[in-house]
Amino acid sequence: EWCYHDPDCSESTWPSLAALHCNGTRQSPINIVSGSATEDENLTEFTFEGYNSKSALERIENTGDTVKVTFTTGVKISGGGLSESYDSLQFHLHWGNGTAEPGSEHTVDGKRFPMELHIVNTKSTYSRNTTLAVKDSEGLAALGFLIEVSVDDQPASWKTLTSYLTSISNTGEKITIQGDLSLDDLLSGVNRSNYYRYLGSLTTPVCNEAVVWTVFKEPIKVSKNLIDLFSSSVYIKNSTSLMVHVYRSTQPSQPVSTQPKASSSTKSGYSLALMTFALIMARY
Ligand SMILES: *[C@@H]1O[C@H](CO)[C@@H](O)[C@H](O)[C@H]1NC(C)=O
Ligand SMILES: *[C@@H]1O[C@H](CO)[C@@H](O)[C@H](O)[C@H]1NC(C)=O
Ligand SMILES: *[C@@H]1O[C@H](CO)[C@@H](O)[C@H](O)[C@H]1NC(C)=O
Ligand SMILES: *[C@@H]1O[C@H](CO)[C@@H](O)[C@H](O)[C@H]1NC(C)=O
Ligand SMILES: *[C@@H]1O[C@H](CO)[C@@H](O)[C@H](O)[C@H]1NC(C)=O
Ligand SMILES: *[C@@H]1O[C@H](CO)[C@@H](O)[C@H](O)[C@H]1NC(C)=O
Ligand SMILES: [Zn+2]
Repeated sequence: EWCYHDPDCSESTWPSLAALHCNGTRQSPINIVSGSATEDENLTEFTFEGYNSKSALERIENTGDTVKVTFTTGVKISGGGLSESYDSLQFHLHWGNGTAEPGSEHTVDGKRFPMELHIVNTKSTYSRNTTLAVKDSEGLAALGFLIEVSVDDQPASWKTLTSYLTSISNTGEKITIQGDLSLDDLLSGVNRSNYYRYLGSLTTPVCNEAVVWTVFKEPIKVSKNLIDLFSSSVYIKNSTSLMVHVYRSTQPSQPVSTQPKASSSTKSGYSLALMTFALIMARY
């Protein structure tokens, strides 16, 4: 059994605890160097099915290592340069200790964000069987959303999500989500057209190298008071300690790709034009 904190089972023991995987050569998470991402025109738009449904989020659970939300069937993604459609199974979170000690797993140009949300998907071919999916080098697709601090009590969707935390303080506790929240609500404000792509692994043992990673460029904005609730409401397994610092450190870098610059240079040309316009207007 692995863990984040006990020296007997924490990160440095994973390569021996789960050899063949955790000591592999395409491990996650990584630091993404934005300037080194190569352009790939195959990284098209995603299609999200069931992400707008208020009945797609089924249950929230304290697993002892994270807070996990499971989905009903019929939630799917396709496009996004993936070889086929993938079933979305669950999301879970990684964090540090409130906003003071950030705990995203991926870092971008060395910056660690307060939290990170991972949506786990398996190739539709495997009918949600993760045992089969982890045997395929692209059997899973993980969507990573970085979380950044915003103004108080925002957004409403995260206020709703965090309201469930007091019901799952202990390992194994779970509670049904009351149809008051959709994935789109939780991911609001993120333009899902812009992302980084690389091939990596699960970030917890047994670290299978079976994951097509997508890390979205824009973070989800969540207020400090709501972020702080994760590190002050739930406890880790077999312990009276609060669940803090639940993330793996970055692993050796991997080739990262992203959408071709064309669209972003058009965008910056556009904002330059807007700025010039604003400057001209400011004189009047
Ligand atoms: C990982 O550990 C296993 C078992 O000890 C070993 O066979 C394998 O060569 C190691 N892989 C790497 C990349 O070091
Ligand atoms: C895009 O996809 C095509 C067809 O699968 C492939 O031949 C090409 O190498 C891909 N481009 C990149 C940059 O990976
Ligand atoms: C987490 O932060 C709180 C204060 O914000 C502090 O009291 C506590 O000791 C910290 N926990 C760890 C494990 O660093
Ligand atoms: C997943 O597939 C494996 C191998 O075919 C099978 O043994 C296992 O029972 C399946 N698991 C589930 C939950 O269906
Ligand atoms: C999202 O980003 C794409 C590409 O940069 C852009 O074309 C699109 O207009 C953006 N969408 C929104 C809603 O801002
Ligand atoms: C933690 O508790 C579970 C059951 O609650 C037990 O199976 C497991 O062995 C314990 N792990 C450690 C590291 O004590
Ligand atoms: Zn994760």
